[in-house]
Amino acid sequence: MSSTDEKTIPLLTPYTMGKFYLSHRVVLAPLTRQRSFDNVPQPHAILYYSQRTTKGGLLIAEATGVSDTAQGYPHTPGIWTKEQVEAWKPIVDAVHAKGGVFFCQIWHVGRASNYDFQPNGQAPVSCTDKSHGAKYSPPRRLKTEEIPDIVNDFRIASRNAIEAGFDGVEIHGANGYLLDQFMKEHVNDRTDKYGGTLENRCRFPLEVVEAVVNEIGADRVGIRLSPFPSYMESADLKLEALGLYMAESINKYGILYCHVVQPRMKLVGKKVETPQSLLPMRKAFNGTFMVAGDYDRVDGNKSIAENYADLVAYGRWFLANPDLPRRFELDAPLNNYVRETFYVPDPVRGYVDYPFLESAFEL
Ligand SMILES: Cc1cc2nc3c(=O)[nH]c(=O)nc-3n(C[C@H](O)[C@H](O)[C@H](O)COP(=O)(O)O)c2cc1C
Repeated sequence: MSSTDEKTIPLLTPYTMGKFYLSHRVVLAPLTRQRSFDNVPQPHAILYYSQRTTKGGLLIAEATGVSDTAQGYPHTPGIWTKEQVEAWKPIVDAVHAKGGVFFCQIWHVGRASNYDFQPNGQAPVSCTDKSHGAKYSPPRRLKTEEIPDIVNDFRIASRNAIEAGFDGVEIHGANGYLLDQFMKEHVNDRTDKYGGTLENRCRFPLEVVEAVVNEIGADRVGIRLSPFPSYMESADLKLEALGLYMAESINKYGILYCHVVQPRMKLVGKKVETPQSLLPMRKAFNGTFMVAGDYDRVDGNKSIAENYADLVAYGRWFLANPDLPRRFELDAPLNNYVRETFYVPDPVRGYVDYPFLESAFEL
């Protein structure tokens, strides 16, 4: 290895993702911040996202509801009304003004909701009528003939995201929300064509992919998956098969990227090493492969250097360090994140007041 090679920081090397030129590989992971009052993005998000923008950097916006049944938390943004689309525009413009590439994560929570968040206090919808724990209201099982309507909500949301100026969308198929509920055997107890076999459980998520691709073009579509987490048991070959099946199936639609949460994120906020690897999915998928889940500078660089991934998404570190790529470049210390302010509605505290390097670190 030459001395220049030794100095190269893999995370800070450029990468071409379809028609997007990325100047580095440090991606802002989608982060719900619950500061979009009444589901409408607010002007304070302009500063928040532009602080985290670099020229040629990729940002993924927080999970954004596709319809009025998609919500499960207070003050999360939506993209199904004209008002919401208009409210996103100045935020997207600010990211573009600094040369960022901005994708919108489109989302339906399914049964991770309760009556308070649903139109007319109705039951949340899901693939099942099995409850999800005390925090949530019992869901209503979607009828087979209702599923195309939800697919259509994703299609319209993707159209709206492009109308708002986003460069593309990330379909939220991870973390126990509606698409993941359909995919996971221990949640999906349907007996129609959307349940039972692996192929049937993946049918609805793949119909969403197809509809969104037909609407805005495959070169603007990514998907986030978490085949392994949320399953509090040890290695499971069935979950490996699920990840692989999805990677192979989305190849057929030629989508831009596949973003996968590490198997080690089994417990919220805690890394647990597992024998499972995303390598089979990485090898199977033809497009850009992005990983997330408790990455730091060292193992992010390692993943890129070893070609385990093309891009690494950072959640909590990017939340607390608006200039994370710069800090990685200099190997500078990082601000710690303050968990207590992750989800508070404060438009400043814990949101746009994390210091930049210049003020936090003397060079
Ligand atoms: C405050 C917070 C909000 C999050 N919101 C979302 C979200 O909207 N969509 C999503 O797919 N994941 C969400 N996640 C998960 C992150 O995108 C990421 O996968 C997770 O934090 C692990 O990465 P990290 O260790 O770099 O933080 C959230 C995580 C945190 C801490």
